[in-house]
Amino acid sequence: MEERKASSQWGSRLGFMVAALGSALGLGSLWRFPYIAAENGGGLFVLVYLVFIVLLGVPLMAAEMAIGRSSQSSPVRAYGTLATRHKRAWQSIGVLGVITGVLILSYYSVVAGWSLDYLRLSLTGGLPTSNDIDAFKGVFDELLKSPGTLLFWHVVVMLCTAWVVGRGVKGGIEQVTEWLMAILFLILIVLLGYSMTLPTFIDSVKFVFGFHAEDFTSESVLEAAGHAFFTLSLGMGAMLTYGSYLDKRSGVLSTAVLVSVMDTVASLVACLVVFPVTLNGGITELKEGGPGLVFNTLPLSAQALPFGGVWISVVFALLFVAALASTVSLLEVPVSVLIDSFGLARRKATALAAGVITLLGTPAALSWTPGFFSAGMTKIFGKSWFDLVDNLSANWFLSLGALGTCLFIAFAMDRKQLAAEFVRNHEGGRKLFQLWFLTTTVVSPIIIVVVFLKTLNVF
Ligand code: PHE
Repeated sequence: MEERKASSQWGSRLGFMVAALGSALGLGSLWRFPYIAAENGGGLFVLVYLVFIVLLGVPLMAAEMAIGRSSQSSPVRAYGTLATRHKRAWQSIGVLGVITGVLILSYYSVVAGWSLDYLRLSLTGGLPTSNDIDAFKGVFDELLKSPGTLLFWHVVVMLCTAWVVGRGVKGGIEQVTEWLMAILFLILIVLLGYSMTLPTFIDSVKFVFGFHAEDFTSESVLEAAGHAFFTLSLGMGAMLTYGSYLDKRSGVLSTAVLVSVMDTVASLVACLVVFPVTLNGGITELKEGGPGLVFNTLPLSAQALPFGGVWISVVFALLFVAALASTVSLLEVPVSVLIDSFGLARRKATALAAGVITLLGTPAALSWTPGFFSAGMTKIFGKSWFDLVDNLSANWFLSLGALGTCLFIAFAMDRKQLAAEFVRNHEGGRKLFQLWFLTTTVVSPIIIVVVFLKTLNVF
């Protein structure tokens, strides 16, 4: 397969790694992981999650990158060109990926918008100054019930995302993500240093690494598997697309390991920032925080600290920076397909995809406004639009896409061509390739199918 032209390739191997890390490291690690870890009992959940990162995450990330790099094309074309038979049927994995990416971005951008509104509130003194959790919850509820504000920020996030994607691979995604990740790690390290000075730090470490089996249920296993895909941006072609901009010399397996390790470290650090501050504020039941843990509980606890207001602004700036590198990778998937399969120019493709996703995000933003697609009145299968899209895309479609990719590796792709992606770069030679192949084609699909059956209550 011919390599893409230099302007549609990463400028350096580091640039690719940082972009992949930027995609992975987002609201999933910083906002979602701390509260689901707290809800599912801390340590044991973290352990299961780590096992899934190793058995599902790393192999699948390498698989997606290898498919992308080998085909040098966007998801839909990639599965088609590489399949030795039934090309059209295998292409459907790519189509599902595009649909999933579009759906995820449509509501992910709304959540990224929350962090911008909280950043505004914290900078303008709009957050409560009392020590009353209800006052904070009030602010959150008020935001959810303000469709105008939610839509405004959703559009702002989509515009920022489209601006980066429109500038292209090297000059846009790579350059901007490098900056975003540098800022992100700097903020994260400062916050960690700060939380280490709190007396509650040790208790938080014990919580994150100690076993609390009583809160760990069979649901927790599903939650851990789903989150492993979501947090590593797997199952919808983002890593495949980024891999397709990679030259033939760089290694995919080493990148997959590095990105997974860094994303996991960042998720654990997020817990070690959020938990000590929260416990320090006198809140003992971390698991009660739920999705509001970072938006309500953390600011409530942080405001009591010296320069609390500043720290709160820093946290929301961090959330936005992290979210933006992920939204960029989500938008790049449909854009690359429009360029590759429909011959559109990058700018046109970006405008079209971003426009459609902005519109699709509207019902998500209206999900809490009574009378619209909300929990109040219109419910679809008993859920609000936001919950429905979140559940369908993040839990079901990502796992389905992941399973499809495992089967593609097992049955559709030429084994020699695949091996070349690993062996060419001397990434440990054939033995390592065989281990990877076995995990991707046997272990991962079995886990995914078991998780599916369990979710459907088959056993
Ligand atoms: N991995 C991102 C996060 O953790 C979310 C994401 C999912 C991005 C799927 C791209 C694709 O926030």
